[in-house]
Amino acid sequence: MSNRKTILITGGAGYIGVHCIVSLVKAGYKPIVVDNLYNATSDALKAVEAIIGEQVQFYNLDVLDKEALAKVFQENEIFAVVHMAALKAVGESCAMPLKYYHVNVSGTIILMEVMREANVKNLVMSSSATVYGTPQYLPIDEKHPVGGCTNPYGKTKLFMEEIMQDVYASDKEWNIIVLRYFNPIGSHESGTIGEDPKGIPNNLAPYISQVAVGLREQLSVFGDDYDTPDGTGVRDYIHVMDLAEGHSCAVKKITEKPGLKIYNLGTGQGYSVLQLLKAFEKATEKNIPYKVCPRRAGDIAAGYADPKLAEEEMGWKAEKGIDDMCTDMWRWQSKNPNGYSS
Ligand code: NAD
Ligand code: WQD
Repeated sequence: MSNRKTILITGGAGYIGVHCIVSLVKAGYKPIVVDNLYNATSDALKAVEAIIGEQVQFYNLDVLDKEALAKVFQENEIFAVVHMAALKAVGESCAMPLKYYHVNVSGTIILMEVMREANVKNLVMSSSATVYGTPQYLPIDEKHPVGGCTNPYGKTKLFMEEIMQDVYASDKEWNIIVLRYFNPIGSHESGTIGEDPKGIPNNLAPYISQVAVGLREQLSVFGDDYDTPDGTGVRDYIHVMDLAEGHSCAVKKITEKPGLKIYNLGTGQGYSVLQLLKAFEKATEKNIPYKVCPRRAGDIAAGYADPKLAEEEMGWKAEKGIDDMCTDMWRWQSKNPNGYSS
């Protein structure tokens, strides 16, 4: 136990962060968390501690606070950082672009400065398939051009990636793994940690889940006239525990000193809005009402990954299917109808 490598997870109290903690502990790492609880609660950390059977060292601080962040590196022998702390609401990013650039981009710069000063140059970054913009071909592999993001949130992820590429070009001691997530959904199988959006969910899966549990009346399906099999948008939904495993594989890969690598984390399988809805109805044995509405601005018709590279180079592959995603998501939502405050 004592010679476990320490992994700092920024944003580690968030939805994906707590699931990563489970995976990292299982893989033999010691997680520590920096989070300012902007979009999370300490209850999430308590819940994950119950799953892993140990306490997680937690620093309640803002990644923009350079001094406080530097202290975390002085107090711990950190092997690698998994950088998840970010703001992620697409609509809000259009209303508050400066806030998004500040937290996501300046936050990354400050973190990397602190890391360089502490001589910790191993970094795994949460990026997003949104950096590919409107797909030019499917499935999307890592060679697909990036750019053309339709909102500031997406641009922050692209800028974060570019900053990392420039830093790596200037100093080859860095090892950086950029993980481009497709659409993470679901929960740990215990149903004790999960996605707990504040206010009205922006994303499809938590919205469906809240309709099923009775918090919302019906789902609005944003467009049924796309060039897809049933006319609704197609995405590559990936179980959050598979995604979390991708981080453990990335941290392991870092020990090989890989330089800078970029990997898609997706299943390679696309599902439409209505297919996800049906899968969720099957998992919940409930009828989930919906109405078709106009398209949402900035949405693409279809996007799914070619995830082969992550398998070839990190030995990672998504194992769970759409039914597991829906069953696990429902276990969390039905046990915790109001999230962590239930
Ligand atoms: P989340 O909001 O649940 O987690 C982000 C965490 O960062 C939160 O706990 C929040 O409190 C924390 N945070 C925000 N600003 C901070 C700051 N200034 N200092 C310290 N902590 C701060 O989101 P998530 O879904 O878990 O996403 C994690 C990462 O994955 C983010 O970088 C997000 O952009 C990226 N991502 C998410 C998705 C998705 O669909 N959920 C898809 C692609 C990429
Ligand atoms: C999926 C599909 C919608 C809600 C966004 C961000 C991306 C990433 C993940 C990361 C689309 C449809 C949705 C609803 C609907 N964020 N939909 N009714 O758009 O692929 O990606 O989240 O941090 O950057 O852009 O995911 O879940 O919002 O939408 O019909 O109430 O569901 O039109 O086809 P998306 P999503």
